Amino acid sequence: MANLLSISCAVNTSPATRTYLRSHNKCVLPCHAYKACGNHMFPSIIIKSHREKPQRAIAVYATAASVSQDVKSISEAWSPQSPSGPIYNPKKVMVIGGDGYCGWATALHLSNKNYEVAIVDSLVRRLFDHQLGLDSLTPISSIQNRIRLWKSLTGKNIQLYVGDICDFEFLFDAFKSFEPDAVVHFGEQRSAPYSMIDRSRAVFTQQNNVIGTLNVLFAIKEFSEECHLVKLGTMGEYGTPNIDIEEGYITITHNGRTDTLPYPKQASSFYHLSKVHDSHNIAFTCKAWGMRATDLNQGVVYGVRTEETAMHEELCNRFDYDGVFGTALNRFCVQAAVGHPLTVYGMGGQTRGYLDIRDTVQCVELAIANPAKPGEFRVFNQFTEQFSVNNLAALVTNAGKKLGLEVKTMTVPNPRVEAEEHYYNAKHTKLMELGLRPHLLSDSLLDSLLNFAIQFKDRVDHSQIMPNISWKKIGVKAQTAPVQTS
Ligand SMILES: NC(=O)c1ccc[n+]([C@@H]2O[C@H](COP(=O)([O-])OP(=O)(O)OC[C@H]3O[C@@H](n4cnc5c(N)ncnc54)[C@H](O)[C@@H]3O)[C@@H](O)[C@H]2O)c1
Repeated sequence: MANLLSISCAVNTSPATRTYLRSHNKCVLPCHAYKACGNHMFPSIIIKSHREKPQRAIAVYATAASVSQDVKSISEAWSPQSPSGPIYNPKKVMVIGGDGYCGWATALHLSNKNYEVAIVDSLVRRLFDHQLGLDSLTPISSIQNRIRLWKSLTGKNIQLYVGDICDFEFLFDAFKSFEPDAVVHFGEQRSAPYSMIDRSRAVFTQQNNVIGTLNVLFAIKEFSEECHLVKLGTMGEYGTPNIDIEEGYITITHNGRTDTLPYPKQASSFYHLSKVHDSHNIAFTCKAWGMRATDLNQGVVYGVRTEETAMHEELCNRFDYDGVFGTALNRFCVQAAVGHPLTVYGMGGQTRGYLDIRDTVQCVELAIANPAKPGEFRVFNQFTEQFSVNNLAALVTNAGKKLGLEVKTMTVPNPRVEAEEHYYNAKHTKLMELGLRPHLLSDSLLDSLLNFAIQFKDRVDHSQIMPNISWKKIGVKAQTAPVQTS
């Protein structure tokens, strides 16, 4: 059923209508027509005009019709042949957020491994770029062109459902039509700085992420309780405690009694908090409904090429280097390539887990192929190495020298509220035990990342390099451009 509905920008919507729409989980979508709406600020409301049925004047921007309907279901997830009982053998994987950085690479990887793949994406990430005047370092093709090209190169179909998972009717239709055996959920607003721009972005981030994930949980309950949810969490959920970080759970003895409990969470932005809320909701539904779920607490991802995205320039992944969406190592490589000093925040002792995007796709594949048991809420720490910001700056400086670049470093007042010197030792053995073969950050990889940044350096917008969102200066008033930190 195709229901790509006409949209209009509800600049004149009354507060009462807005309250109604919000309470029906239909309206907090970014306005796709924002430019035409004068000073109408993000997040704004998109409504469908139903003259005949005003009571259903709800926001819908969705097509739950697959763009490539020619692919039919190829197999059932459960095969009854084993003498020890049925074997769970997932074949159909829904990748929510499959137009994004990790999601696109993963969708292609799974398709290459002969999974039947459907991408679900609202394309809101591309809209954030338009609204904030940002762009990927690499030119990226539309999702429709990407999928067409993939089909012409490999003969493999990827189905596409364009819509917002906060709209349950859309998600309901997508589930009914595709019938996934596993769902990989990347589809969230994933930038900590973005969530700290202003009140409306903080609210949008939590609403988008928490309600989107809740809808996914209800969709799985409704359609297929056997379906395995693989959800992207973040190592940032744990914060930086002064003890070792375990994989999801910690055994504690208190007043003579012992229990294994969820590892304490100390999130450091409204974005990271949304991930903590997600984790709690998922853990609860595993317990209450017997859902099977894996929370992948991912570290900071770097790199751009995977085996599949390297097949053709139109399959190229996005590469964010700006102060809002860029991740540390990717940003440093671009800064080195254009002769901008590396921007070390504060003392630079901030230590985190990192991984190559080629390992992100491997980890997700391993999680799908080795699903959690019914009722199990499994947590894996998904990273391969730890680095401090100072470590990364030194690595990029040395790699730059070898390529004839003069790389300098500058200290920037830290826009975040975080410890700048701290203990950090996080476990990450469970994915290795399942067979992860990491791509560690060697000199050769850094050279290739730097060369990649050099190749596209003419596309760099220098005004986007410095951080300009302050955790302390977040205010109620909506910002058209992020708050200057200096
Ligand atoms: N990139 C990293 O370094 C990193 C690190 C740790 C965790 N993660 C997690 O991995 C996931 C993917 O990250 P990414 O870097 O690929 O982000 P991204 O922003 O590039 O991709 C997210 C995708 O989800 C889509 N999306 C967002 N909200 C949606 C909604 N309501 N309905 C449908 N689609 C929606 C966006 O349009 C986008 O294409 C996120 O959950 C993020 O928190 C990423």
